[in-house]
Amino acid sequence: MTHAPQHHIQVVAHRGASEDAPEHTLAAYKKAIEDGADTLECDVRLTADGHLVCVHDRRVNRTSNGRGAVSALELAELAALDFGSRKSRETWRGRDEEPDWEYRPEDRADTSVLTLERLLELITGAGRRVELAIETKHPTRWAGQVEERLLMLLKRFGLDAPATAELSQARIMSFSARSLHRVRAASPTLPTVYLMQFVSPRLRDGRLPAGVRIAGPSIRIVRNHPAYIERLKRAGHQVHVWTVNEPEDVDLCVELGVDAIITNRPRAVLHRLGR
Ligand code: G3P
Ligand code: CA
Repeated sequence: MTHAPQHHIQVVAHRGASEDAPEHTLAAYKKAIEDGADTLECDVRLTADGHLVCVHDRRVNRTSNGRGAVSALELAELAALDFGSRKSRETWRGRDEEPDWEYRPEDRADTSVLTLERLLELITGAGRRVELAIETKHPTRWAGQVEERLLMLLKRFGLDAPATAELSQARIMSFSARSLHRVRAASPTLPTVYLMQFVSPRLRDGRLPAGVRIAGPSIRIVRNHPAYIERLKRAGHQVHVWTVNEPEDVDLCVELGVDAIITNRPRAVLHRLGR
């Protein structure tokens, strides 16, 4: 059964099509594009030698066959690791089924560490419009430098200063209002998304940090506080919800008129939306 919404809802592939391929790998992003996702979501971290790579955790232990913090490793050291051979425990926690992917050494080009630069090449060469939602991960060791490098890289691809937020092919997301502030100060038209795990009492009335136009609540917030979502919409904000994998949650998002659904299962969500 499909639940076609009245308005267009963006389908965002969370860490790529991360149920069908190892998260944050080229394999997962190629699959998401093939599945028809509108947007790709990725987390970025800075390596010890200043490269932005797409890795969720502070350390590489869960998603690769290596160990250590991304910020303490150089790109060449990360490139020697395999990000396709291990199961992503975070993605699969609490599920009965386990992923059935199995990548062989010859698939290595698609399962080694992914640089943001390579991901930008992928979306700009996709042959159709594919957007990118880039999350800065609580920058600590490299505070400030993450945003600086990120904007430099976006500039190389002509994506740092869209004429208007609506025309932008890239947007920056963060749980850190400070990180978003740094982005906006350097690049005022680049859209920013304030991610929320809970509703801060300061923002309960539907306000967002200064200059931010998009709210990124968790699906738990949406389920428990639908009135808050309506308040955000009334305040004129877009609402992008993460991580929405269950059909009934997709339906709830449609009902509440959210603008983007961030999911590990882009194909299934598109199907649910009648696309
Ligand atoms: O898209 C936002 C979502 O990715 C935030 O949570 O932990 O999966 O990065 P996390
Ligand atoms: Ca993320």
